[in-house]
Amino acid sequence: MRVIICGASGQLGTELVKTFEGAGQEVLGFDRDLDITDYDRVRERIPELRPDLLINAAADTDLDRAELDPEPSHRVNYTGTQNLALACRATGCPMVFLSTDYVFDGTKGSAYNEFDLPNPQGVYAKCKLAAESYMMSVLEEYFIFRTAWLFGKAGQRNFIKSILYNAKSYGSLSVVVDEVGTPTYAADLAETIYRVCASGKYGLYHATNEGICSRFEFAQRTLEIAGWDDITLKPIIHEELGLPCPRPANTALDNLNLRLQGFPPMRHYHEPLKEYVEWLLEEDGFLDGRFTNAKRSDTDK
Ligand SMILES: NC(=O)c1ccc[n+]([C@@H]2O[C@H](COP(=O)([O-])OP(=O)(O)OC[C@H]3O[C@@H](n4cnc5c(N)ncnc54)[C@H](OP(=O)(O)O)[C@@H]3O)[C@@H](O)[C@H]2O)c1
Repeated sequence: MRVIICGASGQLGTELVKTFEGAGQEVLGFDRDLDITDYDRVRERIPELRPDLLINAAADTDLDRAELDPEPSHRVNYTGTQNLALACRATGCPMVFLSTDYVFDGTKGSAYNEFDLPNPQGVYAKCKLAAESYMMSVLEEYFIFRTAWLFGKAGQRNFIKSILYNAKSYGSLSVVVDEVGTPTYAADLAETIYRVCASGKYGLYHATNEGICSRFEFAQRTLEIAGWDDITLKPIIHEELGLPCPRPANTALDNLNLRLQGFPPMRHYHEPLKEYVEWLLEEDGFLDGRFTNAKRSDTDK
């Protein structure tokens, strides 16, 4: 099978490349060298490459910037996906799209499954939902995976890196207690995506690791694993951060459709988090100061 992966150097894209290649598939990975917002180029290049599957892991994930300047988010997250969907339709190629827990408004009070009605609050999430609907309207063979709170080895920024960087730099941290979700390890998600795609069971899936927590608990667990028990962790509420993008209160996802279709559950996030933090500290040169790109107020997407 020949697989095109757009956004191949991103946090998830990197793991998708590894997983699909590891499973013996031919992978063609692209980033800005195949700008998904360039309709002419996408429509020319995709049919030439004759893929059996196209995965759109490319995105503009800067939620706060999207509130202040929405057009780049519209262009990449909606129009880029539209361009790829049209090219897939013309080529007869199934397509994978990555969406977000933020399509929900967070008021349900328990985990959201695929039967719950979305009600996105911010620009980024509205683009993602619009892109989902577009794909469903033009393609018969699509896989949509809504995921959340990704952490992975590739990329400069994610919540865990920000927590460790800020803890190391400042010795104390303020983290929100009123944002609840389902952390997801990029490598585990890539494995699930591969499994579902290989099955040919098209549709909409929630796909996150097991386990629900607040950002505060997520940070607490990270510091425990790191063994940094001298760090002061202060609970705050989201409003105190003054960020432009509204964060829904509780967007934990329930992977109901994965269960209904007979796929094995993803493991509890505690397990990959431990592996990941240990990897960051021991192998990734984190403590040598090579990682410098986090911001103090970064609560990530
Ligand atoms: N991260 C999360 O917590 C989270 C949560 C829910 C859903 N998701 C979704 O999961 C997917 C993967 O997220 P991620 O964290 O892996 O994202 P990421 O690390 O930001 O990777 C996105 C990739 O897309 C590339 N890209 C951006 N604009 C492009 C364009 N116009 N043409 C081609 N490539 C472009 C980026 O390149 P540059 O580096 O050059 O910009 C980057 O390599 C995304 O769809 C995201 O919306 C993520």
